[in-house]
Amino acid sequence: MKLVTVVGARPQFIKASVVSMALRGVCREVLVHTGQHYDRNMSGVFFEELKIPKPKYNLGVGSGTHGKQTGEMLIRIEEVLLGEKPDAVLVYGDTNSTLAGALAAAKLHIPVAHVEAGLRSFNRRMPEELNRVLTDHVSDLLFCPTRTAVRNLAEEGITEGVRVTGDVMLDSVLHFVGLARENPEKTKIFSELGIEPKRYRLATLHRAETTDGGVGAVARIFGAFERLPEKVVIPIHPRTRPLAEQALKEHDFGNILLTEPVGYLEMLLLTSNANQVLTDSGGLQKEAWFLGVPCVTLRRETEWVETLEGNWNVLAGLDAEKIYRLATRTAPDPAAREKKPFGDGHASEKIAKALAAAFGDDVK
Ligand code: UD1
Ligand code: UDP
Repeated sequence: MKLVTVVGARPQFIKASVVSMALRGVCREVLVHTGQHYDRNMSGVFFEELKIPKPKYNLGVGSGTHGKQTGEMLIRIEEVLLGEKPDAVLVYGDTNSTLAGALAAAKLHIPVAHVEAGLRSFNRRMPEELNRVLTDHVSDLLFCPTRTAVRNLAEEGITEGVRVTGDVMLDSVLHFVGLARENPEKTKIFSELGIEPKRYRLATLHRAETTDGGVGAVARIFGAFERLPEKVVIPIHPRTRPLAEQALKEHDFGNILLTEPVGYLEMLLLTSNANQVLTDSGGLQKEAWFLGVPCVTLRRETEWVETLEGNWNVLAGLDAEKIYRLATRTAPDPAAREKKPFGDGHASEKIAKALAAAFGDDVK
């Protein structure tokens, strides 16, 4: 069996790292990096730290409007697929790289396998929602992290090829968090940032809905953060950095600590030792849940509805007053953590097995 895996954005490197490990010995995997993320701290660092094999192809697509970026990926992925002739194409999540990989394969009648299938925010204004829906509808194997995802697919008439595997991000947290904790090169992040465990909150911001509001929207969020009693550490996504820097120029938000994006191991350390996470990220909401850290989500809806149970995650939207109120007055219920909605931490192996069973007549 020969698989082509298409990745391109930070969260996909993290998800692919554990699945690629499970696939070794099961099949030949050809890794294609679309180049959607390209800064060292958004791409290279993950390949090094997580020991992901070097991609055979880096398509160098880079940034652009949705049409340009997705279109260029489509053209270049098609060329790769015509040359490689894989048995299946594996895609992750909901980025433009996901959609381009799935569409290029489907049009060439190559089976598509989608990891993180069935997630829905029911907000079609999100580019990610369009990417997810379209990818699921051209996929042959749909690996769902949760039962909710299976139900979402069934409501759209997709029942064939659907498997509940659990969440690969749980696999990666379980695999890497110990390695992070015992690596002195990584634990020095606390002294480098001048913070102490359990005496800060961690925030990330990159969603289009957030940045579309410009400096004003970011400044309003920072205004809510400023009222919090601890430091707020923000490893800032390059998309949001100019807005955040401008907001900080216009007003001295004394407790905000802006820093470059960090590697995954450092991020696990920062997350697991935070008092609280405040974020518009999808992946970070889940990681907070896995690590037992309360989360305030800076969006009005979430795909990861299981995290809302017992107020471990609360939806604040982008309203400063609501962010402050929920950040200071939410008490999560420990009993809610007894459920294990994201599986047992072995999603990657289940995915590798299902791929081998579906496409692996001549398993290597
Ligand atoms: C993309 C995904 C989003 C995902 C996020 C993960 C889409 C539509 N969006 O959003 O679902 O949550 O990745 O982080 O696919 N930039 C750099 N250096 C980089 C990468 C980006 O400077 O290495 C800047 C560029 O100005 C670029 C902007 O960030 O225009 C946005 O990058 P892009 O990949 O289009 O979207 P993300 O916001 O990263
Ligand atoms: N992450 C990281 N360094 C950072 C910020 C995030 O390693 O500086 C990790 C985070 O732990 C999670 C993933 O990146 O595993 C989430 O990616 P992001 O928020 O960019 O995208 P989303 O999950 O919203 O698609």
